Amino acid sequence: MDTVIGVIGGSGLYEIAGLEAPEWVSVATPWGTPSDQILTGRLDGVAMAFLPRHGRGHVHSPTTVPYRANIDALKRLGVTDVISVSACGSFREEMAPGDFVVVDQFIDRTFAREKSFFGTGCVGHVSVAHPVCPRLSAACLAAGTDLGLRMHQGGTYLAMEGPQFSTLAESRMYRSWGCDVIGMTNMPEAKLAREAELCYASVAMITDYDSWHPDHGAVDITQIIKTLGQNADHARSLVARLPALLGAKRAPCPHGCDRALDFAIMTAPD
Ligand code: ADE
Repeated sequence: MDTVIGVIGGSGLYEIAGLEAPEWVSVATPWGTPSDQILTGRLDGVAMAFLPRHGRGHVHSPTTVPYRANIDALKRLGVTDVISVSACGSFREEMAPGDFVVVDQFIDRTFAREKSFFGTGCVGHVSVAHPVCPRLSAACLAAGTDLGLRMHQGGTYLAMEGPQFSTLAESRMYRSWGCDVIGMTNMPEAKLAREAELCYASVAMITDYDSWHPDHGAVDITQIIKTLGQNADHARSLVARLPALLGAKRAPCPHGCDRALDFAIMTAPD
């Protein structure tokens, strides 16, 4: 099977540099229109599909991102592996702005988004106990480490609805829950990728210390944009190493991400 790497780029990552035969394509889905057209092309002999999560010009808020259309559009393009790149705040002193966390767990506190492809007509309950693909996450970690970036292996990501940042009390509570980072976009994206039987890994770039840190005060979007600007090149370089690490051919996922629905559907076939 051919590898097709899908990259969902967050704030600060709006394209992939160096693609051969780049082409922005429109993909229609039964779930609506994706955030934007998708940039397809090849890098190091591997097919790539890049989707700006917020759309070019940053027109979708975390709540209005069409998560189902985005995942479905990538699936329709033959994507096998989805890498999410996003900004996040940190709950840990040692996880500093500019560092990257290869997230391995989530707490989903979003509440105003469509979270499943299943519902009336076809009921499915997929497992998300282990919500990211270990093989793909390991490749992301290796890509960043090879480049000398400050990488953290694993971390629990609190997905909040936003668009406002957390109160001090919320920030302290999430820290007490054992969360490592906080962001607004990885859910329901990761759950939908699993329902679509796609391998998914999340590379979260730390832009701030959220509001709990006594020396850093409230989160400030100016500071976030500045940190994003300073580190966008790192994110781009990390993504650019992935084709060489993943290769153009792939075997079935050793962790079963691509077979997630085998025992998940409740509704009897017609
Ligand atoms: N994205 C970047 N920093 C964040 C924070 N502190 N909270 C939520 N989302 C974020």
